[in-house]
This record gives sequence, C-alpha cells and structure tokens, in this order.
Amino acid sequence: MPNQSSLLSERHSPRAVLVTGGAGFIGSNFLLRMVPRYPDVSFVNLDALTYAGNPMNLEALESAPNYTFVHGDIADAALVQSLFATHRFTTVVHFAAESHVDRSIMAPLSFVHTNTVGTVVLLEAARQAWRGDASYTGDYRFFHVSTDEVFGSLGDDGLFDETTPYDPRSPYSASKAASDHFVRAYYHTYGLPMVLSNCSNNYGPYQFPEKLIPLVIQNAINGEPVPVYGEGTNVRDWLHVHDHCDAIDQLLRYGQTGETYLISGAAERRNIDLVRLLLDLVDDALGRPARTSQALITFVKDRPGHDFRYAIDATKLRDELGWTPTYDLTEGLRATVRWYLDHSDWLAAVRDASYLEYYKQQYVHR
Ligand code: NAD
Ligand code: DAU
Repeated sequence: MPNQSSLLSERHSPRAVLVTGGAGFIGSNFLLRMVPRYPDVSFVNLDALTYAGNPMNLEALESAPNYTFVHGDIADAALVQSLFATHRFTTVVHFAAESHVDRSIMAPLSFVHTNTVGTVVLLEAARQAWRGDASYTGDYRFFHVSTDEVFGSLGDDGLFDETTPYDPRSPYSASKAASDHFVRAYYHTYGLPMVLSNCSNNYGPYQFPEKLIPLVIQNAINGEPVPVYGEGTNVRDWLHVHDHCDAIDQLLRYGQTGETYLISGAAERRNIDLVRLLLDLVDDALGRPARTSQALITFVKDRPGHDFRYAIDATKLRDELGWTPTYDLTEGLRATVRWYLDHSDWLAAVRDASYLEYYKQQYVHR
C-alpha cells in the first residue's frame, strides 16, 4: 500500500498478470515478492531464458498455485496472442529486455528485437485483446518498466525529471527510448491504459555478474581484478531492487493512466567510491584485514560513449504516492554482499565459459 493510502483510491486492481522477463534480475525479485503477497492474483511469467534469465531464481515459486512459467519470446506474436486468449490478462508488467549497455555496443540488433519490436508485439496483443472488451472500459493496465538512460548524460549538476527531453546515447538506451515512445503512442492513439516508469540503477539479489555491483563482489570474493572504466568518476544513482519492485507495485495500482514516473534511490555515488566501499564490505564480511581488496582495483579502457552522470528528481512519485526508498545504500550493499556470499552455488552456476570469454575480449588493461 502507498504511504498515503488513505488519501488515494486504487485505480487498477490486477487479477491476471502477464510478467515478461520474470526470470531476470528485477523480474524475479518482483515475482518473489508479489506472488506470495497477492495469492488471489494469477501471474504468468513469459521469459525467453537468455543468458540473463535464470530459472534457479524462481525455485521458491515452483509450487505456488498462482504462478505459471512460459518459455518464449515476447516478439513471437502468435505466442503472445494465444497467452492473452488463454489467460485473459488484465495487466502486463513488462520487464523483458536486453539490459546490458556493453553488450548493446557489441551486438545492437538483439536489443532492437527484444526491447523495441518485442514491446510493440506486446502492446499490439494487449490492444487486440482489450479492445474486444468494450473499448477499454474494463480495468486494464500495461506497465512499462524503463530506464533513466533514455534521458542521456548529465554534467556535474542537474537532475532528470518527467519533462526531460529524450537523448539516448547507447544502442541499449536508444532501443528502450523507442519502446517508451511506442508505449505512449499506444496511449495517445488507441487509448491503451499504460503507466511508464524510468528508474535509476538497481542492485540486490539475483543480479547477473556482468553489472558493476555483482561483478565487483564476485571478483573480490575470488581475489580477481576489479575493472573500473576510465577514471571511475562517472556517477550513478543506486536503488535497491526491493524498493524498485515495491514502487512498481504501488504505481501499477495507484499511478495515473497515461503518466510517466521517475524512480530514484536518491543515492548518487562516483563509481570509484562505490567500488571502494563494496571492496571494504566484502573484506569485512569475509573477516579479511581491512583494505585488503583495494589492491584489486584495475582501471581499464573506458566504455565508448560512456554516459557521465545519471540523477533523478523523483518529486512526482513522492508527491502523488508518498513513495520514497527504504534502503540506506551502505546497508543495502552490506546485505547484498551477504546474499552473494550465501549463494555461492548461484554465482557458480551463472559464471559459465561464454561469460568469461566475453570479458576476456572486452577489457584491455591500460
Ligand atoms: P535482466 O537482463 O537481468 O533480465 C532480462 C530478462 O528478460 C531475462 O530473464 C531474459 O531472459 C528476458 N528476456 C530477454 N529477451 C527476451 C525476449 N525476447 N523474450 C522474453 N524474455 C526475454 O534485466 P533487468 O536488469 O532485470 O532489467 C529488467 C527491466 O528493467 C529492463 O526492461 C530494463 O531496461 C529495466 N531497468 C533495469 C535497471 C537495472 O539497473 N537493472 C534499471 C532501470 C530499468
Ligand atoms: O540507469 C539504469 C541502467 O543501469 C539500466 O537501464 C541498465 O539496464 C543497467 O545495466 C544499468 O546501466 P549501467 O551502464 O549504468 O550499469 P553497469 O552496471 O553496466 O555500470 C555501472 C557503472 O559502472 C557505469 O558507469 C559503467 C561502470 N562499470 C561497469 C562495469 C560492468 C565499470 O566501471 N566497470 C565494470 O566492469
């Protein structure tokens, strides 16, 4: 419930939810929280199980009566339409994406396929299914999970807000920006009831260790070099994934149709400062002498077109729903380090040969 629940009425009551990309990092955290929280709501998880989709994440839901897994591609129109016909979804929560900027620089087309084309396939299936039901007078919602990267790169000052013009600068953010435009186009053209969120960098359990935080934790545990791009002065705003999932849950029910909301952790850090903190937290958790792992920091060639800074003004979300993040960054990171240490089997399973090969090709030491 929103912090100001007494002031708000629920705008949407999900009954049958299509979750896309629910075997990935944020999607699996979302399902692990929502399936038990809403036993009267049915959840269908459509996931292609790319390298980033991991069924191990969802083992706890295997016997849940209100949860079903479907293996498939969101860009497969026949499959998506048949799922709408079978399950009569009232709600779509759309996470599925190719999500890693470095991969988008090496191979952009899969990002266009999933992030842009896949989103339009879902929008079209929702439009077809829902317009058959009295021109959207039913209670439906298409929730599109997007990123702050669509706004481009900030300098030392300034914040993104809901009115910031789009300026995507990587193939990943360009493909997400295109998907955002299609979601709004379906609202304006067809009246498709959508809500869109653009969120800052997430961290927490089940994040694939190609992203900065789990990569640093994994390499520190193993005593391997920790790659920091460029000088490490780029800035990101970090949000615990549980806070993100709870914000989506509230926005899905209480957000205004047709609106966009920015979600922020209000925790900006330079990469180098975040990495140093994480390394200290790993040393502390492992009982190593203080500062042991700092020597692992290795400055490597910068990411091409590396966005300098992301930062968000989340006033709209706070004012409309009373939502603010609950995690303190240091404590959230400490808990995350603990989670990866306690789930070494999970880390080992995702650390396969192709993953290692990818990093060998990518990172040239300066
Ligand atoms: P992820 O890469 O961990 O997971 C993506 C999931 O989508 C995987 O399970 C994968 O198998 C699935 N998938 C990929 N292509 C598919 C396809 N064609 N059909 C069906 N499933 C497919 O991503 P994530 O970090 O969990 O991000 C989820 C969403 O949140 C994305 O839309 C991303 O743009 C957005 N987002 C992420 C962050 C972040 O910090 N991770 C921040 C803001 C927004
Ligand atoms: O802002 C939201 C976005 O955050 C999401 O939309 C993306 O899906 C998600 O991947 C993330 O994008 P980033 O590019 O910011 O995240 P990443 O973890 O790849 O990198 C975080 C910062 O750390 C970035 O400035 C690049 C830097 N970096 C990253 C890696 C993997 C390093 O210095 N070394 C590394 O090895």
